[in-house]
Amino acid sequence: MRIESIRLKNYKSFRNATMADMPDLCVIVGANGTGKSTLFGVFGFLKDCLLHNVSRALQPRGGFKELLSRGADPSEGIEIEIKFRMEIAGIERLVTYGLHLGEERGRPVVLHEVLRYKRGRYGSPFHFLDFRKGAGYAISNEEDFNRPDEDLDREEQKVSPDTLAISGLGQFERFKAANAFRQLIENWHVSDFHINQARGSKDAVGVDEHLSETGDNLQLVARNLYENHRDIFNDLLESMRRRVPGVSSVTPKLTEDGRLLLQFQDGAFKDPFIDRYVSDGTIKMFAYLVLLHDPRPHPLLCVEEPENQLYPKLLGELAEEFREYAHRGGQVLVSTHSPDFLNSLELDEVFWLRKRDGYSEIMRAKDDPQVSAYMAAGDQMGYLWKQGFFTGVDPQ
Ligand SMILES: Nc1ncnc2c1ncn2[C@@H]1O[C@H](COP(=O)(O)OP(=O)(O)O)[C@@H](O)[C@H]1O
Ligand SMILES: [Mg+2]
Repeated sequence: MRIESIRLKNYKSFRNATMADMPDLCVIVGANGTGKSTLFGVFGFLKDCLLHNVSRALQPRGGFKELLSRGADPSEGIEIEIKFRMEIAGIERLVTYGLHLGEERGRPVVLHEVLRYKRGRYGSPFHFLDFRKGAGYAISNEEDFNRPDEDLDREEQKVSPDTLAISGLGQFERFKAANAFRQLIENWHVSDFHINQARGSKDAVGVDEHLSETGDNLQLVARNLYENHRDIFNDLLESMRRRVPGVSSVTPKLTEDGRLLLQFQDGAFKDPFIDRYVSDGTIKMFAYLVLLHDPRPHPLLCVEEPENQLYPKLLGELAEEFREYAHRGGQVLVSTHSPDFLNSLELDEVFWLRKRDGYSEIMRAKDDPQVSAYMAAGDQMGYLWKQGFFTGVDPQ
């Protein structure tokens, strides 16, 4: 499953913007306040809507008024539209999920929620799920494409007006597209790595397969790789040795009181260092390697400024690891301010954000003739950015 595009209307600083033709690895450059975090935040908002309801999702975000673009007419509402590709009944299809939120008598409502895609090669997209203010239908025999429209089974349903229909219906496999979209939103991951939370011994209870958003279960995930995926762990160690001088080995170590810590061995000394005492960059590089070597990648991974604390020369390889992760799993969205990171990217992987009259605009590098021409001639994205070819990207 791949997200093809995201269209936002009246969503915070995105008054009217589309991110189209999204590749496996999408990298976004933009000055402070141009909307990078806001864009990633769309998935967190959808997840909160899905797991709770729209009112609950709006609460920590300041309510409908704060989410609505400043200057927008509240009656227009907020729109989020995501197009994604997935296989249904043996054919890859472009599915559109659309959500239109409004406010009525001070309460948030789902004005319209729709999932649509084309059944055959021709014809207009068919609505497989269509709800307005809590009432609507979903098609439960989606796979029976050969039948005429009137033979498809519509299940009429009622949900609370501020609840997404995909919250409930998406739990059932017979609602194919709703189910897939629900899983994408539920399993997306934003990395909000905190070095100090990653350090230190942790209670060695249970098995953690995925690194948490803050990285505070690094020791447990490393142990899982060490014990259950030794080949992956060894690969990861090999990269670590190449990139961090002095690290010859890393070993998960269980203490006598049932705590788990990481021992970093420096080839020059006999005794290893425990994770509490190694450098920030060492912990961070190790955590990224653990994140990106996940045997079961997230369908969507968002990472902000991965370059922080890392030595610039290492960023090219890191970009390649993000790309490999994206090819193995779903998709990766990264924001960056690093020319070294950008230098190892391809033309169609780079987007930049700029503000115009207070609102965010999404620019695609490949739409820029000058940037495209330079790249075709062998230039690199980081240098082009530094030389000012990303029009409007620098603060005025
Ligand atoms: N409702 C809104 N309407 C318009 N702009 C908004 C709204 N809410 C927040 N903003 C603005 O959106 C901008 C985007 O911030 P953010 O996504 O954090 O930027 P970045 O991560 O690129 O630094 C901020 O400058 C903020 O003032
Ligand atoms: Mg930000």
